[in-house]
Amino acid sequence: MTRTLFLLVLLAAASPLAAQRYELVAAPGLWRIAAEKSLPGFAYGGRFPGPVLEAREGIPLEIVFRNHLSEPTVVHWHGLRIPAAMDGTEMSQSPVQSGGSFTYAFTPPDAGTFWYHPHTNESRQIERGLVGTVVVRGASDPVVDAEQLLVFDDVSVSGQDFGRFGTPVQRWNGREGKVLLINGRADTQLAMSANQVERWRILNASNARYLRLALGGQTFRLIATDGGLIERPIALTEVLLTPGDRVDLAVGPFEEGTVINIESLAYDRGVGKGEAARYGSVRVGAPRPSVARLPEVLRSIPPLAEADAKPTRMVTLDGRISLLRAVDWTINGKGNPHDAPVKVGELQVWDIVNESKIDHPFHLHGFFFQVLSQNGVPSTMRSWEDVVNVPAKSRVRIAWMPDDRPGMWMYHCHIVEHQGAGMMAHFEVVR
Ligand code: C2O
Ligand code: CU
Repeated sequence: MTRTLFLLVLLAAASPLAAQRYELVAAPGLWRIAAEKSLPGFAYGGRFPGPVLEAREGIPLEIVFRNHLSEPTVVHWHGLRIPAAMDGTEMSQSPVQSGGSFTYAFTPPDAGTFWYHPHTNESRQIERGLVGTVVVRGASDPVVDAEQLLVFDDVSVSGQDFGRFGTPVQRWNGREGKVLLINGRADTQLAMSANQVERWRILNASNARYLRLALGGQTFRLIATDGGLIERPIALTEVLLTPGDRVDLAVGPFEEGTVINIESLAYDRGVGKGEAARYGSVRVGAPRPSVARLPEVLRSIPPLAEADAKPTRMVTLDGRISLLRAVDWTINGKGNPHDAPVKVGELQVWDIVNESKIDHPFHLHGFFFQVLSQNGVPSTMRSWEDVVNVPAKSRVRIAWMPDDRPGMWMYHCHIVEHQGAGMMAHFEVVR
């Protein structure tokens, strides 16, 4: 025992903990969403979506960011539990001006599927394509036969350009587009081998569109959410991803010749029919041997609080009609409020109350929470999340623990048009 420990310490000391370095440029670029359709987009690293930044749990990461856009931007590292100064918001740094640069340096503490996106002029910058993923690998990742990363998005198109930005309807509902994309392309055709089990890392990077993901009725297994692995795989035929959400699925094994639709089932978030839609398909090719092993227990997640723990704070989401701006979205009755500080080490139990008639995906920066209950009904699954849907006229209770990372943090609705219309708060974590 002691000897193993000693060896491990030795190994850790010997292994180079050198930072993994990336250079990331944001610049205008032509976004080819389909064979005959290109849009004047904004790209990270010249790609739509931007490059996958590969990282390892506990290994420092350094990203030299350069802004070649003609407007200011900042890069937010969504879901990563890193120091406040690296969070990449207008609260934590001054925006990177056109032609400027900023070096983000931090050590990802958790394995999982994360993403990066601007935290300035979000509705336009994210819609135009500034979206990328961070895959953090960990020691206890299950063995699978292959892995795919699927970034779901939608764009509103008019001719060879984006549809109008900033309309009153978008301020109400969020900006939804009719062109549905996986990894930046309409009608994506994926391939996998029969007999194999793949890990699909999935992100909903849409501004506002909900994704009630289904694979033509096939069963898949949920293995991870925003903050990494859940406790045990859960067999499902559909899973709901709000904007900003991630899930990892174990997909397969399927039989050769099967063609499976990748689709979104109808979901009514309070803004109209929310019709079913098809994003693409996956074709199952010739069988290959499988080495995948999905353990029954993926990890254990200790509960932060009882389901009926007393709330320490109320966060009320609502909206009100505005003559000038159609609608203003509010938190505790105000647009962009400054909320009370929280103390390092003091358990937070927050009731997120949605008084409005439409759903809002609540996102907390820099910390994971557990969902304790919805409308008083205890959660059946324990997981670490940074986004949770708060359905219209409902109440979601969450618990989170501020660890020792003082500074300014934010929470907001991840329908980015709502975020831009007031439904975003900041608060300080203090020692
Ligand atoms: Cu993806 Cu402030 O969030
Ligand atoms: Cu909202």
